[in-house]
Amino acid sequence: MKVLLYNMTPEQQVYVDKWTKAHPEDTLVTTTADLDATTVEQAAGYDVVSVLQVADIDDEAVYQKLTAYGINQIALRSVGYNIINWEFAHKYNLLVTNTPAYSPRAVAENTLTSAMYLLRKWGQIFKNEKEDLNFVREESLMSDEIYHQTVGIIGVGRIGTATAEIFHALGARVIGYDVVENPANEAFLEYTDFETVIKEADILSLHTPFDPSMQDMIAAEQFKQMKNTAVIINAARGPLINTSALIEALQNHEIAGAALDVMTGEEAIVMKKFSRLSELPQDYQELAKMPNVVFTPHSAYYTKTAVKNMIEQSMTDVKRVLNGQKPIYPVEQ
Ligand code: COI
Repeated sequence: MKVLLYNMTPEQQVYVDKWTKAHPEDTLVTTTADLDATTVEQAAGYDVVSVLQVADIDDEAVYQKLTAYGINQIALRSVGYNIINWEFAHKYNLLVTNTPAYSPRAVAENTLTSAMYLLRKWGQIFKNEKEDLNFVREESLMSDEIYHQTVGIIGVGRIGTATAEIFHALGARVIGYDVVENPANEAFLEYTDFETVIKEADILSLHTPFDPSMQDMIAAEQFKQMKNTAVIINAARGPLINTSALIEALQNHEIAGAALDVMTGEEAIVMKKFSRLSELPQDYQELAKMPNVVFTPHSAYYTKTAVKNMIEQSMTDVKRVLNGQKPIYPVEQ
C-alpha cells in the first residue's frame, strides 16, 4: 500500500518507521503539512491519505481531487471526525476511518489531572508563589477532596467511560448523560438527563463528539444552572462551549474554574509560539489572566501509547480496506 501521511511529527515518525520495518511491502510517505486545497496535490499517486489535524478539511476541491487521484479512503489518526465535510465525503464516495480506541485512558487521565489542578487551586497557588513570592496558606486556597465531589460527564463513550471509572475508583459520585446508555456503565456511573448533570456536577467534563448541532452546548443558560463552586473541563472540542459565555461566567463567579484542552479558534495558537500575550486572540488573553483557568495545547491525548496506537490502528484499517476487508473503525455519518 502507498499512503501519504499528512501532519507528521517526529514522535509519530518513530512508529511510521516501525510499521514500514514490519511491513516492507508498504510505502508510507510523510509530510508535516495539513491536508487542504494547497497540499492535496501531493496525494497524487497514493492509495490513501492519512491525517491528524485540528483544521477542518472543508474545501470541496480536496475531496474532488482525492477521488480523481483514485483515492477512496481518508484514514484519520484521531478520535474526532468533525474536520471532515461529510457532504463532500459522501458526494465523492470517500470512506473515512478513525482511531477511537488509541487511548481513551490518555484523555481520561488528563481530565483527572485537570480536575485535581482546579480543585486544589494550583493556578492561584502558582500565581501567588511565582508572581507575588507569596507563600501564605490563604483561606481561599482551602480545597475539597475528590470523594466529596459529584463528577458530571457529558458523553459517555470510550473516553467518558474511562473518565467515569477513574473518578469512581477515587470515591467520587459520577453522573453522566449520553443519548445511548450502556447498562454495563451503571457499575460506576448514574445516568441522568443533561440538565441534571449540569446542575449537580462539581466537576463537569465534556467527552462528546462534535457536530455543528452541538455548537454552544454549554452557553450562558448552562453556566447559570451550574453550581458557582463547579469547574468545567473540555478535552473534547472547543465549540461545545461558547467562549464569551464562559468568560462572563468566570468573571461573574457563576462557576469556579475551567480547564481547556480545546477552544474555539485553537488553530490560531496550537503548535505555535508567541512572544507577547497581546499576540494571542482576545478571548485567550482574557482567560489567560485568570488563575482559575488552565489551558493545555490540545494535548490531553498526547501519550506514548496514544501516538503508537494512532499509527498502528490507522494503518491496520488502510491495509484491511485495500485487502477487501471491512475496516475496524469506519466512521458512519
Ligand atoms: C482526537 O484524536 O480527536 C484529538 O482530539 C487529537 C487531536 C490531535 C486531533
